[in-house]
Amino acid sequence: MSELKSELKNDLYLRALLRQPTERTPIWMMRQAGRYLPEYREVRKQAGDFMALCKNAELACEVTLQPLRRFPLDAAILFSDILTIPDAMGLGLYFEAGEGPKFERPVRDIASIEKLGVPDPEQELRYVMDAVRTIRRELNGQVPLIGFSGSPWTLATYMVEGGSTKNFSEVKKLMFSEPKAMHLLLDKLAQSVTSYLNAQIAAGAQAVMIFDTWGGVLSPRDYREFSLNYMQKIVNGLTRHADGRQVPVTLFTKNGGAWLGDMAATGCDALGVDWTTDLGTARAAVNDKVALQGNMDPSVLYAPPARIEAEVATILESYGHGHGHVFNLGHGIHPEVNPDHAAAFIEAVHKLSPAFHK
Ligand code: CP3
Repeated sequence: MSELKSELKNDLYLRALLRQPTERTPIWMMRQAGRYLPEYREVRKQAGDFMALCKNAELACEVTLQPLRRFPLDAAILFSDILTIPDAMGLGLYFEAGEGPKFERPVRDIASIEKLGVPDPEQELRYVMDAVRTIRRELNGQVPLIGFSGSPWTLATYMVEGGSTKNFSEVKKLMFSEPKAMHLLLDKLAQSVTSYLNAQIAAGAQAVMIFDTWGGVLSPRDYREFSLNYMQKIVNGLTRHADGRQVPVTLFTKNGGAWLGDMAATGCDALGVDWTTDLGTARAAVNDKVALQGNMDPSVLYAPPARIEAEVATILESYGHGHGHVFNLGHGIHPEVNPDHAAAFIEAVHKLSPAFHK
Protein backbone atom coordinates (compact mmCIF):
# COMPACT_ATOMS: atom_id res chain seq x y z
CA MET A 1 0.00 0.00 0.00
CA SER A 2 1.28 3.45 -0.88
CA GLU A 3 2.18 5.62 2.11
CA LEU A 4 2.84 8.64 -0.05
CA LYS A 5 1.56 11.78 1.67
CA SER A 6 -0.23 14.34 -0.46
CA GLU A 7 1.65 17.62 -0.35
CA LEU A 8 0.54 20.08 2.34
CA LYS A 9 2.25 23.47 2.44
CA ASN A 10 0.87 24.42 5.87
CA ASP A 11 0.21 21.59 8.32
CA LEU A 12 0.32 23.67 11.55
CA TYR A 13 -3.33 22.88 12.31
CA LEU A 14 -2.86 19.10 11.97
CA ARG A 15 0.34 19.15 14.01
CA ALA A 16 -1.23 21.20 16.81
CA LEU A 17 -4.19 18.80 17.02
CA LEU A 18 -1.75 15.93 17.47
CA ARG A 19 0.16 17.99 20.09
CA GLN A 20 3.28 18.06 17.95
CA PRO A 21 5.62 21.09 17.99
CA THR A 22 4.62 24.16 15.95
CA GLU A 23 6.38 27.51 15.62
CA ARG A 24 3.18 29.43 16.37
CA THR A 25 -0.45 28.73 17.33
CA PRO A 26 -2.57 27.90 14.26
CA ILE A 27 -5.91 29.64 13.84
CA TRP A 28 -9.22 29.20 12.03
CA MET A 29 -12.67 30.55 12.88
CA MET A 30 -15.89 28.63 13.31
CA ARG A 31 -18.33 29.79 10.58
CA GLN A 32 -15.44 31.52 8.83
CA ALA A 33 -17.43 31.34 5.58
CA GLY A 34 -20.64 33.25 6.18
CA ARG A 35 -22.79 36.33 6.19
CA TYR A 36 -20.20 38.71 7.73
CA LEU A 37 -18.42 38.53 4.34
CA PRO A 38 -20.02 40.60 1.53
CA GLU A 39 -18.60 38.18 -1.07
CA TYR A 40 -20.44 35.32 0.70
CA ARG A 41 -23.75 37.22 0.62
CA GLU A 42 -23.19 37.78 -3.10
CA VAL A 43 -22.69 34.07 -3.88
CA ARG A 44 -25.62 33.06 -1.69
CA LYS A 45 -27.84 35.43 -3.64
CA GLN A 46 -26.58 33.88 -6.86
CA ALA A 47 -27.35 30.36 -5.53
CA GLY A 48 -30.89 31.39 -4.50
CA ASP A 49 -30.88 30.04 -0.98
CA PHE A 50 -28.65 28.45 1.60
CA MET A 51 -29.34 24.77 0.77
CA ALA A 52 -28.94 25.44 -2.96
CA LEU A 53 -25.50 26.82 -2.10
CA CYS A 54 -24.65 23.69 -0.08
CA LYS A 55 -25.83 21.44 -2.94
CA ASN A 56 -23.71 23.13 -5.62
CA ALA A 57 -20.14 21.81 -5.29
CA GLU A 58 -18.56 24.68 -7.28
CA LEU A 59 -20.31 27.39 -5.25
CA ALA A 60 -19.76 25.57 -1.92
CA CYS A 61 -16.07 25.42 -2.86
CA GLU A 62 -16.04 29.11 -3.75
CA VAL A 63 -17.45 30.21 -0.37
CA THR A 64 -15.14 27.78 1.48
CA LEU A 65 -12.15 29.51 -0.12
CA GLN A 66 -13.37 33.12 0.33
CA PRO A 67 -12.11 33.58 3.92
CA LEU A 68 -8.74 32.07 2.94
CA ARG A 69 -8.28 34.69 0.24
CA ARG A 70 -8.81 37.46 2.78
CA PHE A 71 -7.03 36.08 5.84
CA PRO A 72 -3.95 33.92 6.59
CA LEU A 73 -5.99 31.10 8.13
CA ASP A 74 -4.46 27.69 8.85
CA ALA A 75 -7.43 25.52 7.87
CA ALA A 76 -10.41 25.45 5.53
CA ILE A 77 -13.74 24.04 6.70
CA LEU A 78 -16.14 22.38 4.30
CA PHE A 79 -19.04 24.68 3.56
CA SER A 80 -22.16 22.70 4.41
CA ASP A 81 -24.43 22.27 7.40
CA ILE A 82 -24.99 19.74 10.18
CA LEU A 83 -28.63 19.32 9.10
CA THR A 84 -27.75 17.56 5.81
CA ILE A 85 -28.12 14.18 7.57
CA PRO A 86 -31.72 14.65 8.81
CA ASP A 87 -32.54 16.13 5.39
CA ALA A 88 -31.15 12.97 3.76
CA MET A 89 -33.27 10.90 6.18
CA GLY A 90 -36.33 12.48 4.57
CA LEU A 91 -37.37 15.16 7.11
CA GLY A 92 -37.52 17.94 4.53
CA LEU A 93 -35.12 20.70 5.64
CA TYR A 94 -35.91 24.29 4.71
CA PHE A 95 -34.78 27.71 5.87
CA GLU A 96 -37.22 30.53 6.50
CA ALA A 97 -35.73 34.02 6.27
CA GLY A 98 -34.56 35.14 9.69
CA GLU A 99 -35.95 32.06 11.44
CA GLY A 100 -33.22 29.47 11.07
CA PRO A 101 -33.67 25.85 9.99
CA LYS A 102 -37.03 24.03 9.94
CA PHE A 103 -38.19 20.50 9.16
CA GLU A 104 -41.40 19.72 7.28
CA ARG A 105 -41.67 16.31 8.96
CA PRO A 106 -40.30 16.26 12.55
CA VAL A 107 -40.06 12.85 14.27
CA ARG A 108 -41.80 12.59 17.64
CA ASP A 109 -42.79 8.95 18.10
CA ILE A 110 -41.30 5.47 17.90
CA ALA A 111 -43.18 4.63 14.67
CA SER A 112 -41.60 7.50 12.71
CA ILE A 113 -38.18 6.79 14.26
CA GLU A 114 -38.41 3.12 13.26
CA LYS A 115 -39.01 4.14 9.65
CA LEU A 116 -35.85 6.26 9.43
CA GLY A 117 -33.02 4.82 7.33
CA VAL A 118 -29.28 5.38 7.61
CA PRO A 119 -28.35 7.49 4.55
CA ASP A 120 -25.72 6.25 2.10
CA PRO A 121 -23.24 9.15 1.97
CA GLU A 122 -22.30 8.53 -1.67
CA GLN A 123 -25.99 8.52 -2.68
CA GLU A 124 -28.25 10.88 -0.74
CA LEU A 125 -25.30 12.97 0.49
CA ARG A 126 -23.21 12.76 -2.64
CA TYR A 127 -23.36 16.55 -3.06
CA VAL A 128 -21.38 16.91 0.20
CA MET A 129 -18.72 14.43 -0.97
CA ASP A 130 -18.54 16.26 -4.33
CA ALA A 131 -17.96 19.52 -2.45
CA VAL A 132 -15.16 17.88 -0.40
CA ARG A 133 -13.48 16.55 -3.57
CA THR A 134 -13.80 19.91 -5.34
CA ILE A 135 -12.44 21.88 -2.37
CA ARG A 136 -9.47 19.51 -1.92
CA ARG A 137 -8.60 19.91 -5.59
CA GLU A 138 -8.87 23.72 -5.49
CA LEU A 139 -7.02 24.06 -2.17
CA ASN A 140 -4.08 22.40 -3.86
CA GLY A 141 -2.37 21.67 -0.54
CA GLN A 142 -2.49 25.25 0.77
CA VAL A 143 -4.00 24.26 4.15
CA PRO A 144 -5.84 21.16 5.44
CA LEU A 145 -9.58 20.70 4.92
CA ILE A 146 -11.82 20.06 7.95
CA GLY A 147 -14.90 17.87 7.52
CA PHE A 148 -17.68 17.96 10.10
CA SER A 149 -20.97 16.67 11.38
CA GLY A 150 -23.41 17.41 14.18
CA SER A 151 -23.47 15.11 17.20
CA PRO A 152 -26.38 12.65 17.38
CA TRP A 153 -27.91 14.53 20.33
CA THR A 154 -27.67 17.92 18.60
CA LEU A 155 -29.15 16.53 15.36
CA ALA A 156 -31.94 14.87 17.37
CA THR A 157 -32.90 18.20 18.98
CA TYR A 158 -33.61 19.70 15.55
CA MET A 159 -35.31 16.52 14.26
CA VAL A 160 -37.70 16.22 17.22
CA GLU A 161 -38.37 19.95 17.72
CA GLY A 162 -38.73 20.56 13.97
CA GLY A 163 -36.28 23.48 14.17
CA SER A 164 -34.44 25.70 16.64
CA THR A 165 -35.82 25.81 20.17
CA LYS A 166 -35.41 27.64 23.47
CA ASN A 167 -36.80 25.09 25.93
CA PHE A 168 -36.08 21.75 24.21
CA SER A 169 -39.60 20.73 25.30
CA GLU A 170 -40.34 18.12 22.65
CA VAL A 171 -36.94 16.46 22.62
CA LYS A 172 -36.81 16.28 26.43
CA LYS A 173 -40.38 15.00 26.56
CA LEU A 174 -39.33 12.15 24.29
CA MET A 175 -36.07 11.56 26.20
CA PHE A 176 -37.73 11.35 29.62
CA SER A 177 -40.95 9.56 28.66
CA GLU A 178 -39.78 7.27 25.84
CA PRO A 179 -36.07 6.69 26.42
CA LYS A 180 -36.11 3.59 24.16
CA ALA A 181 -37.37 5.63 21.21
CA MET A 182 -34.76 8.31 21.95
CA HIS A 183 -31.98 5.72 22.05
CA LEU A 184 -33.15 4.19 18.78
CA LEU A 185 -33.00 7.62 17.13
CA LEU A 186 -29.56 8.38 18.59
CA ASP A 187 -28.26 4.97 17.53
CA LYS A 188 -29.39 5.51 13.92
CA LEU A 189 -27.80 8.97 14.00
CA ALA A 190 -24.51 7.63 15.38
CA GLN A 191 -24.37 5.10 12.51
CA SER A 192 -25.24 7.83 10.00
CA VAL A 193 -22.64 10.28 11.35
CA THR A 194 -19.92 7.59 11.38
CA SER A 195 -20.45 6.64 7.75
CA TYR A 196 -20.90 10.31 6.74
CA LEU A 197 -17.60 11.37 8.34
CA ASN A 198 -15.76 8.32 7.00
CA ALA A 199 -17.04 9.18 3.51
CA GLN A 200 -15.82 12.78 3.95
CA ILE A 201 -12.41 11.41 4.96
CA ALA A 202 -12.36 9.09 1.93
CA ALA A 203 -13.30 12.08 -0.26
CA GLY A 204 -10.40 14.13 1.15
CA ALA A 205 -11.23 15.68 4.55
CA GLN A 206 -7.96 15.75 6.55
CA ALA A 207 -9.48 16.27 10.01
CA VAL A 208 -13.03 16.01 11.34
CA MET A 209 -14.97 17.88 13.98
CA ILE A 210 -18.22 16.94 15.71
CA PHE A 211 -20.41 19.87 16.78
CA ASP A 212 -22.44 19.11 19.90
CA THR A 213 -24.01 22.53 20.10
CA TRP A 214 -26.75 21.46 22.52
CA GLY A 215 -25.09 18.86 24.80
CA GLY A 216 -24.80 21.64 27.41
CA VAL A 217 -28.54 21.72 28.01
CA LEU A 218 -28.42 18.25 29.61
CA SER A 219 -27.74 17.25 33.22
CA PRO A 220 -24.35 15.56 33.73
CA ARG A 221 -25.93 12.10 33.81
CA ASP A 222 -28.13 12.71 30.78
CA TYR A 223 -25.17 14.20 28.91
CA ARG A 224 -23.28 10.92 29.34
CA GLU A 225 -26.25 8.73 28.44
CA PHE A 226 -27.72 10.70 25.53
CA SER A 227 -24.83 12.67 24.05
CA LEU A 228 -21.32 11.55 25.01
CA ASN A 229 -22.18 7.86 24.72
CA TYR A 230 -23.04 8.32 21.02
CA MET A 231 -20.03 10.52 20.28
CA GLN A 232 -17.97 7.68 21.80
CA LYS A 233 -19.52 5.22 19.30
CA ILE A 234 -18.60 7.56 16.46
CA VAL A 235 -15.00 8.01 17.67
CA ASN A 236 -14.70 4.19 17.86
CA GLY A 237 -15.86 3.84 14.24
CA LEU A 238 -13.91 6.62 12.53
CA THR A 239 -11.09 6.17 10.02
CA ARG A 240 -8.09 7.60 11.87
CA HIS A 241 -5.45 7.31 9.16
CA ALA A 242 -5.76 8.30 5.49
CA ASP A 243 -3.62 9.70 2.72
CA GLY A 244 -0.43 8.83 4.67
CA ARG A 245 -1.44 10.93 7.68
CA GLN A 246 -3.37 10.74 10.93
CA VAL A 247 -6.88 12.20 10.70
CA PRO A 248 -7.42 14.11 13.97
CA VAL A 249 -10.88 14.11 15.56
CA THR A 250 -12.16 17.13 17.53
CA LEU A 251 -15.23 17.02 19.78
CA PHE A 252 -16.99 20.26 20.73
CA THR A 253 -19.77 20.42 23.29
CA LYS A 254 -20.89 24.02 23.75
CA ASN A 255 -21.24 24.70 27.49
CA GLY A 256 -19.53 21.38 28.14
CA GLY A 257 -16.72 22.77 30.32
CA ALA A 258 -17.54 20.48 33.23
CA TRP A 259 -17.16 17.35 31.10
CA LEU A 260 -13.88 17.94 29.30
CA GLY A 261 -12.16 15.08 31.16
CA ASP A 262 -14.89 12.63 30.14
CA MET A 263 -14.80 13.88 26.57
CA ALA A 264 -11.01 13.48 26.39
CA ALA A 265 -11.40 9.88 27.57
CA THR A 266 -13.30 8.96 24.36
CA GLY A 267 -10.00 8.71 22.50
CA CYS A 268 -10.52 11.85 20.41
CA ASP A 269 -7.49 14.00 19.60
CA ALA A 270 -8.80 17.43 20.55
CA LEU A 271 -11.62 19.28 22.27
CA GLY A 272 -13.27 22.53 21.30
CA VAL A 273 -13.75 24.84 24.29
CA ASP A 274 -16.17 27.76 24.53
CA TRP A 275 -15.39 30.99 26.40
CA THR A 276 -17.16 30.00 29.62
CA THR A 277 -14.14 27.87 30.61
CA ASP A 278 -10.61 29.29 30.88
CA LEU A 279 -8.19 27.41 28.64
CA GLY A 280 -5.76 26.96 31.54
CA THR A 281 -8.51 25.25 33.57
CA ALA A 282 -9.43 23.14 30.54
CA ARG A 283 -5.79 22.16 30.00
CA ALA A 284 -5.48 21.02 33.61
CA ALA A 285 -8.76 19.08 33.33
CA VAL A 286 -7.52 17.06 30.34
CA ASN A 287 -3.99 16.79 31.70
CA ASP A 288 -2.45 17.51 28.26
CA LYS A 289 -3.92 14.23 26.93
CA VAL A 290 -5.67 16.01 24.06
CA ALA A 291 -5.21 19.29 22.19
CA LEU A 292 -7.57 22.21 22.85
CA GLN A 293 -9.27 24.51 20.38
CA GLY A 294 -10.68 27.90 21.28
CA ASN A 295 -11.86 30.01 22.91
CA MET A 296 -12.45 33.72 22.39
CA ASP A 297 -15.99 35.02 22.90
CA PRO A 298 -17.08 35.84 19.31
CA SER A 299 -18.58 39.12 20.61
CA VAL A 300 -15.05 40.41 21.34
CA LEU A 301 -14.87 40.96 17.56
CA TYR A 302 -17.30 43.87 17.97
CA ALA A 303 -14.58 45.71 19.92
CA PRO A 304 -11.75 47.80 18.41
CA PRO A 305 -8.59 45.95 17.28
CA ALA A 306 -6.57 46.93 20.39
CA ARG A 307 -9.17 45.27 22.65
CA ILE A 308 -9.19 42.19 20.40
CA GLU A 309 -5.40 41.92 20.63
CA ALA A 310 -5.52 42.22 24.44
CA GLU A 311 -8.05 39.37 24.57
CA VAL A 312 -5.85 37.20 22.32
CA ALA A 313 -2.94 37.81 24.73
CA THR A 314 -5.08 36.78 27.72
CA ILE A 315 -6.14 33.55 26.04
CA LEU A 316 -2.59 32.65 24.96
CA GLU A 317 -1.44 33.22 28.55
CA SER A 318 -4.29 31.15 29.90
CA TYR A 319 -3.30 28.15 27.75
CA GLY A 320 0.32 28.84 28.63
CA HIS A 321 3.57 27.71 27.14
CA GLY A 322 3.77 24.67 24.88
CA HIS A 323 2.03 23.01 21.97
CA GLY A 324 -1.45 21.57 21.47
CA HIS A 325 -3.51 24.75 21.13
CA VAL A 326 -5.51 25.71 18.05
CA PHE A 327 -6.78 29.27 18.32
CA ASN A 328 -10.46 29.78 17.47
CA LEU A 329 -13.59 31.53 18.62
CA GLY A 330 -15.64 29.78 21.29
CA HIS A 331 -18.55 29.59 18.81
CA GLY A 332 -19.36 30.82 15.29
CA ILE A 333 -18.49 34.33 14.14
CA HIS A 334 -21.52 36.67 14.22
CA PRO A 335 -22.97 37.98 10.94
CA GLU A 336 -22.61 41.65 12.07
CA VAL A 337 -18.82 41.45 12.60
CA ASN A 338 -16.64 43.82 10.56
CA PRO A 339 -14.25 41.63 8.48
CA ASP A 340 -11.39 44.03 9.37
CA HIS A 341 -11.83 43.02 13.02
CA ALA A 342 -11.54 39.35 12.05
CA ALA A 343 -8.30 40.32 10.25
CA ALA A 344 -7.02 42.03 13.43
CA PHE A 345 -7.86 38.92 15.46
CA ILE A 346 -5.91 36.61 13.14
CA GLU A 347 -3.00 39.06 12.95
CA ALA A 348 -2.80 39.20 16.76
CA VAL A 349 -2.49 35.40 16.94
CA HIS A 350 0.29 35.46 14.33
CA LYS A 351 2.10 38.23 16.22
CA LEU A 352 1.75 37.09 19.83
CA SER A 353 1.73 33.30 19.69
CA PRO A 354 5.34 32.47 18.64
CA ALA A 355 6.55 33.47 22.14
CA PHE A 356 4.53 30.59 23.60
CA HIS A 357 6.28 27.98 21.41
CA LYS A 358 9.95 28.73 22.18
O1 CP3 B 1 -17.70 27.05 9.81
C1 CP3 B 1 -17.93 27.13 8.59
O2 CP3 B 1 -17.54 28.10 7.90
C2 CP3 B 1 -18.63 25.98 7.88
C3 CP3 B 1 -20.00 26.07 7.73
C4 CP3 B 1 -21.01 25.69 8.78
C5 CP3 B 1 -22.35 26.13 8.67
N1 CP3 B 1 -23.09 25.53 9.64
C6 CP3 B 1 -22.83 27.06 7.63
C7 CP3 B 1 -24.08 27.79 7.89
C8 CP3 B 1 -20.95 24.85 9.90
C9 CP3 B 1 -19.76 24.15 10.51
C10 CP3 B 1 -22.28 24.75 10.42
C11 CP3 B 1 -22.66 23.91 11.58
C12 CP3 B 1 -23.97 24.09 12.20
N2 CP3 B 1 -25.18 24.30 11.60
C13 CP3 B 1 -24.21 23.97 13.59
C14 CP3 B 1 -23.15 23.61 14.62
C15 CP3 B 1 -22.29 24.75 14.96
C16 CP3 B 1 -22.99 25.86 15.69
O3 CP3 B 1 -23.09 26.95 15.10
O4 CP3 B 1 -23.42 25.61 16.82
C17 CP3 B 1 -25.59 24.17 13.81
C18 CP3 B 1 -26.29 24.16 15.14
C19 CP3 B 1 -26.19 24.35 12.54
C20 CP3 B 1 -27.64 24.52 12.24
C21 CP3 B 1 -27.90 25.79 11.57
N3 CP3 B 1 -27.56 26.07 10.28
C22 CP3 B 1 -28.51 26.93 12.12
C23 CP3 B 1 -29.03 27.04 13.54
C24 CP3 B 1 -28.53 27.91 11.12
C25 CP3 B 1 -29.14 29.26 11.16
C26 CP3 B 1 -28.29 30.14 12.02
C27 CP3 B 1 -28.10 31.49 11.43
O5 CP3 B 1 -27.00 32.00 11.66
O6 CP3 B 1 -29.00 31.99 10.76
C28 CP3 B 1 -27.89 27.37 9.98
C29 CP3 B 1 -27.64 28.05 8.71
C30 CP3 B 1 -26.21 28.26 8.35
N4 CP3 B 1 -25.26 27.28 8.34
C31 CP3 B 1 -25.61 29.47 7.87
C32 CP3 B 1 -24.28 29.17 7.57
C33 CP3 B 1 -23.24 30.09 6.97
C34 CP3 B 1 -26.34 30.78 7.68
C35 CP3 B 1 -27.06 30.62 6.38
C36 CP3 B 1 -27.27 31.88 5.66
O7 CP3 B 1 -28.28 32.53 5.97
O8 CP3 B 1 -26.46 32.21 4.76
